[in-house]
Amino acid sequence: YVIGVDLGTSAVKVSAMDRSGKIAAQQSYDYPLSQPKPGYSEQNPQDWLYGTTIGIDRMILKDGIKKEEIKGISFSGQMHGLVLLDADNQVLRPAILWNDTRTTKQCQEIMDKLGDRFVDITGNKPLEGFTLPKLLWVKENEPEIWAKAKTFLLPKDYVRFCMTGNLGMDYSDATGTVLLDIKQGQWSREICEVFDIPMSMCPPLMKSVDYAGNVSASYAMFSGLSTATKIYGGGGDNACGAVGAGILHPNMVMSSIGTSGVVLKYEENADVNYHGQIQYECHAIPDTYYSMGVTLAAGHSLNWFKHKFDPDEDFSMMVEKASQRPLGANGLIFTPYVVGERTPYADADIRGSFIGVDSMQDRYDFCRAVMEGITFSFRDILNIYDQNGQEFDTVVAIGGGAKSDFWLQMQADIFNKKVVALTNEQGPGLGAAMIAAVGLGWFESLQNCAKEFVHFGKEYLPKPANVAKYDELYAIYHQVYGQTKDLCH
Ligand code: XUL
Repeated sequence: YVIGVDLGTSAVKVSAMDRSGKIAAQQSYDYPLSQPKPGYSEQNPQDWLYGTTIGIDRMILKDGIKKEEIKGISFSGQMHGLVLLDADNQVLRPAILWNDTRTTKQCQEIMDKLGDRFVDITGNKPLEGFTLPKLLWVKENEPEIWAKAKTFLLPKDYVRFCMTGNLGMDYSDATGTVLLDIKQGQWSREICEVFDIPMSMCPPLMKSVDYAGNVSASYAMFSGLSTATKIYGGGGDNACGAVGAGILHPNMVMSSIGTSGVVLKYEENADVNYHGQIQYECHAIPDTYYSMGVTLAAGHSLNWFKHKFDPDEDFSMMVEKASQRPLGANGLIFTPYVVGERTPYADADIRGSFIGVDSMQDRYDFCRAVMEGITFSFRDILNIYDQNGQEFDTVVAIGGGAKSDFWLQMQADIFNKKVVALTNEQGPGLGAAMIAAVGLGWFESLQNCAKEFVHFGKEYLPKPANVAKYDELYAIYHQVYGQTKDLCH
C-alpha cells in the first residue's frame, strides 16, 4: 500500500491505497483551531503529528493493514502555515495558519519595498495568508522568538520531518511562502536580503515525488510503523487536489467548491505573467506549474445561508427545491463576499449583497441565487484567463459543486465550458497517495499513475439558451462589487 496523508485545517485524513488506486482503509482525526484574537488562526504542530500517527495506527490496529505492507507515505498539506523551529528543531510557537489575517501591514511593507519586482520574482502579490508576511510579523512583534528561530517549515513538512528526521520543503508548497524565486526554482536571495531573513532559515528544497528518507528508528518506536517504509516529499493541498483530479495536462482547469472555492489551471511554464492577479505556484509534477484564483466563501456562503435562514431543512432537499426555481432565481442576484474576497479583488473588507429582492421570492430563490453567485465568482476567475489569452476546454469539478447534477450543469452554463465530474473523488489525499506511488517507482510519472488512479465520469455540456441568460445576469453581477465597495470600507 501507499498512504496519502491529507493534513487539513480541521482534521487529518489518512488513506491507504493499493496499486490500482483502490482504497483499502481510511481514518481521520480532528484537531482544534485556536483564534486567540480577531483575525488570528493558529494550531499546535504536535496535534498534526499525533493526529497523523493515530490515524495510521488505527489503520494498522482496526483495519488490518500490516505495517510491512505500507511501502510509501506522502503528504498533502494545508498551505502557507508558519512553523518556526529553534537550533534543536523544537517548535518555538504555535503555527500561524493560511487563514490568519494579522499581516496586512507586513504585506503593505513588502509591496512598498519591492512592488512589481516582488511579483516578478515570486509570481504572486503578497497576501495576508502567505508565509513571508508571517515571518515578518514574528520578527517585528516577537523579537525574543525570532532571535531563537533557525528554520521555518510548512505544516506537512513538519510532520515529514518528525517521521524521517530530515528537514525539507517541496517546490509546490515553497512557492506559497513567496520567498521562492519561481523561475530559478531557488530561494530568493534578493527577498531574503531586503527583509533581513537569513538564507539559512530556508529549508532544503525537493520535488514532490522525491524520496525524503525512511521512517526513522525513533518514529518507528513512537508510531508502530516499520523503518522499511519510505517517505516522499508531497505537496500543497491545491497541487495535490489537482493531481487527484487529473489536472496534469494543459487544457485542464479544476473548479473546487469547499469552504473556500478554487479555480486552478495547469501551466507549463514559469513565466506566464498574470501580474499577480491570480496565484502562481509550482505544481507537484516536476517542472510544471499551476495558477489559481480563490473565492473566500464558496461552500461557506451556502452553509451560512442554510444555517441562518433554513436550519431545519435537509441540505440536499434545500438544493433540490432551489433547482426547481427558474434560472436567475426570479430576479435575485447574490455576491458571495460574506467574509471578503480574494480573487479578483484581494479585498478583505468587501461584504456580500442580495440585489433584486422581491416580495414574491422565497427561500429557495435565495438558495438558488447563492449557488449562482458562488458560480459567478468562479467566472470572475475564468475571465482572468480569457483576458490573458489562456485557452482550455475542460473543467473538472470537485467538492460541493460536483455533488449534484444541478450544480454541475449550472457550472457548464455559467462557464460556457464542458464540465466533468470524477467517479472516485478523494480530494488531495488521493494526490498525496499518487505521489508516493510514483516515488516508489510503481509508475513512471504522475500522468501515468492518473490513468490507473483517476476516473472521469459524466460530462456536462453548456446549453446555449442557458449560457445566453447567464451571460446577461453575470454582466449585472459583475457591477455589484464596484457599486458596493464604498459602503464596506
Ligand atoms: C491557498 C490557500 C488555501 C489553503 C487551504 O492559497 O490559502 O487553499 O491551502 O489549506
